[in-house]
Amino acid sequence: MAKTLIKNGTVVTSTGRSLADVLIDGETIAAVLAPGSSLLGFDVAGNVDTVIDAQGKYVIPGGVDAHTHMSLPFGGTSASDNFETGTRAAAWGGTTTIIDFAVQTYGQKVFDGLATWHGMAEGQCAIDYAFHQIIGDVNDDSLAAMRKLPDEGISSFKLFMAYPGVFYSDDAQILKAMQVSADTGLMTMMHAENGPAIDVLAAQLAEAGKTDPYYHGIARAWQMEEEATHRAIMLADLTNAPLYVVHVSAKQAVQQLAWARDNGQNVFGETCPQYLYLSLEEQLGASSEEWGTFEGAKWVCSTPLRSKEEGHQHAMWQSLRTNDIQMVSTDHCPFCMKGQKDLGLGDFRKIPNGIGSVEHRMDLLYQGVVDGQISLERWVEITATTPARMFGLYGKKGVIQPGADADIVIYDPNGHTSIGYGEGKTHHMNMDHSAWEGFEVDGHVDTVISRGKVVVDDNQDLGAKGDGKFVKRGLSQYLI
Ligand code: URP
Ligand code: ZN
Ligand code: ZN
Repeated sequence: MAKTLIKNGTVVTSTGRSLADVLIDGETIAAVLAPGSSLLGFDVAGNVDTVIDAQGKYVIPGGVDAHTHMSLPFGGTSASDNFETGTRAAAWGGTTTIIDFAVQTYGQKVFDGLATWHGMAEGQCAIDYAFHQIIGDVNDDSLAAMRKLPDEGISSFKLFMAYPGVFYSDDAQILKAMQVSADTGLMTMMHAENGPAIDVLAAQLAEAGKTDPYYHGIARAWQMEEEATHRAIMLADLTNAPLYVVHVSAKQAVQQLAWARDNGQNVFGETCPQYLYLSLEEQLGASSEEWGTFEGAKWVCSTPLRSKEEGHQHAMWQSLRTNDIQMVSTDHCPFCMKGQKDLGLGDFRKIPNGIGSVEHRMDLLYQGVVDGQISLERWVEITATTPARMFGLYGKKGVIQPGADADIVIYDPNGHTSIGYGEGKTHHMNMDHSAWEGFEVDGHVDTVISRGKVVVDDNQDLGAKGDGKFVKRGLSQYLI
């Protein structure tokens, strides 16, 4: 099998950094060695097929993005990245594993939904992928099917307290699903927003002529997120289910998570780059020649962007430091402005919800290191190691150690990345705009290795669809 040596780099893991060489044998990491060392008298550098010099660069585990929605049907259209385009974009940005969401729609059998997602992804992905299961219809049949998900390598399911009439579960359904979660160890993932109340507020705003994208965020007030987060926590406490709250954006929701964790509950949370960097104020001020104030549709997502003035962004960074929030995923769910987001011209309720970020998570979070928000090790932890541990991939993914998959990123702290859609920018997602236009990052993804194969190097895409394989997951490492 082909052997590669990454030499002279600084290997960064969640627990520390050191100058070390990394030997790859085929698809696997064979050894992490003192720089320039021989292995039992064997000259390593002289006996490999390829040597990559990582002098002055960080050698980190490939990113694990635990929340993506390739091709998700939503709001009368489907997310514009499919598994091919979305995983290529992910690779460009140093992410080597995604966990996407298979969907059981209302009235459908869980395993039929899962089969559809396998069909969409198989042979298409440039990097490895796994699935969570969305349960869009909690009933006796789906509850029974959920018990078999671990056999399929699926160890988590998502419920929605939002989106009535689409994915929504009421409290009785949530309670029953959480009982299965407690019995089986499946992680309950929760979209925690009070959907029925939000729909009333949204209708009242629309009737009052407040139809701009900005009002999406006004209708989805932080109280709706705090209330739903609290309710989910109480139902999880009652049933003893592990709970992972997705796309947390309100500081009050974080306080709920911290309170539950302090009480000893197995409650976890993720936030997303958009809640760390973007705000409702910017969305209010957004306007362009082409779209006027509908420009703000680029940032319509749920949970919504929140007011910077109210301190939500600050709370998200702080909670990443204090571990009240354990990790960062993208909730990558891109839609083009033309033909997709514009379905909501004149009525924000019809704008498909979602932002595309799968390509930029590692860079945007590295900027957090540069800005003094998080440490280098914490960067690796929240983008790779914890996602792998949280969702049963650790050992193979999220770590640089012998026996792990050779998913490795060589990151240049002296490089630069100009994020955006336009000429000379880094955008590879299948979108006609970027929600991150103009963001500048003081670092650069130089080389990306996925199970031993170099898939991105020196601004060249060397991957191919079909390189990525489905990965079966075990139960979360955070549970006993
Ligand atoms: O706006 C979002 N988040 N769209 C994707 C669906 C979801 O709720 O995660
Ligand atoms: Zn959601
Ligand atoms: Zn999502």
